[in-house]
Amino acid sequence: MTRINATHSDETDTLRHFRERFDLPDGVIYLDGNSLGALPKTVKARVAYTISEEWGNQLIRSWNTAGWVHLPQKVGGRIGRLIGAQEGTVVSADSTSINLFKVLSAALGLNPGRSKIVSERENFPTDLYIAEGVARQIGQGHRLVLADKPADIPAMLSDDVAVLMLTHVNYRTGYRHDMAAITQAAHDKGILVIWDLAHSAGAMAIDLTGADADFAIGCGYKYLNGGPGAPAFLYVNPRHHGGFRQPLSGWFGHRAPFAFESSYAPSNSIDQYLCGTPSVLGMVAMDEALALWDDVDMDALRAKSVALCDFFIQEVDGFAGEFGLTLVTPRNPDQRGSQVSYSCDNGYAIMQALIARGVIGDFRAPDIIRFGFTPLYLSFAEVSEAVAILRDILSTRAWDAPKYKVREAVT
Ligand SMILES: Cc1ncc(COP(=O)(O)O)c(C=O)c1O
Repeated sequence: MTRINATHSDETDTLRHFRERFDLPDGVIYLDGNSLGALPKTVKARVAYTISEEWGNQLIRSWNTAGWVHLPQKVGGRIGRLIGAQEGTVVSADSTSINLFKVLSAALGLNPGRSKIVSERENFPTDLYIAEGVARQIGQGHRLVLADKPADIPAMLSDDVAVLMLTHVNYRTGYRHDMAAITQAAHDKGILVIWDLAHSAGAMAIDLTGADADFAIGCGYKYLNGGPGAPAFLYVNPRHHGGFRQPLSGWFGHRAPFAFESSYAPSNSIDQYLCGTPSVLGMVAMDEALALWDDVDMDALRAKSVALCDFFIQEVDGFAGEFGLTLVTPRNPDQRGSQVSYSCDNGYAIMQALIARGVIGDFRAPDIIRFGFTPLYLSFAEVSEAVAILRDILSTRAWDAPKYKVREAVT
């Protein structure tokens, strides 16, 4: 691999002007946009306007005049363009966990007579917990079966599997599945596929339509920069619209919510996957945060993401062995997302020491230090500086202080 030079890469970076569109504190190198995206500057004014004018002055009229009622579809449409979804196939609503409950329930209903849900032991826990809960609730012998590693999945796609449920990019290792190939292999066996895009939406272009995915879900607060607890999203392939009722049959999923009928009649569109009143302030922040994506060249975004990760790995390679850092993210860019993770002893303390020096990443138990690379607001010079600080912390054992070993609730 050709060595990457930070100065040259920054000078030729076509995305560097996006940095000005984010509020980032001085003295911070932010390598955690894969967990909570940074604040796009225009979000502050938009939310303030919504609070003071739309809520404060227009009051309930804003459901119509400010279009609050259509925000789930509007925001969904903006996200849909980033994930290769057709118009009318994505809505923004609820949390990723709740959306998984909805689409997994729908998928199992569409594939009766099959009892297995296949996923990975290394999948994000909420996905596994929701699947366990759905299986228990159906109570017809449904069960979750877990692959120990990605290579085991193809052999597990048997005729009794109803749903394959995978996270596109693994939250801990950064490993990325081949979405199109796996979806095809599952469909060949009559299995429906749900993709969790939490760590890939906004990190790279995704082609749900090209892959013919059945369902997808994902978070708004990571690479999409929608803010803490931002509304999530879900995608349903048009061939499944109206095919099965998702169980959270709230009035926003009714075909005519304001007819106030006493019995539920589901919408035949993606709207059926809505449940209740949208969280307007969160939706407005999300809508505004997504506006800047209209100007983003997704090929340039991916190229820079690959280069930032390659550069970080290249620089850390120089001392990883000496300090017991093992790269757990694939070196091959085709097999990874936009993060780089290492396993190591004392990872929690090392990360706390980094954060104290202004390099913000995070720690995932039991032993992973995780660094996210968001091409819209990160420079190669910052990555270079972060690596120098990491090296300094390791060589001076600065992490070996009691204050860095006290576990906070969120790691
Ligand atoms: C892959 C994945 N799925 C789901 C979630 C979380 O979902 P929720 O927003 O419902 O907490 C996360 C959170 O980090 C995640 O990484």
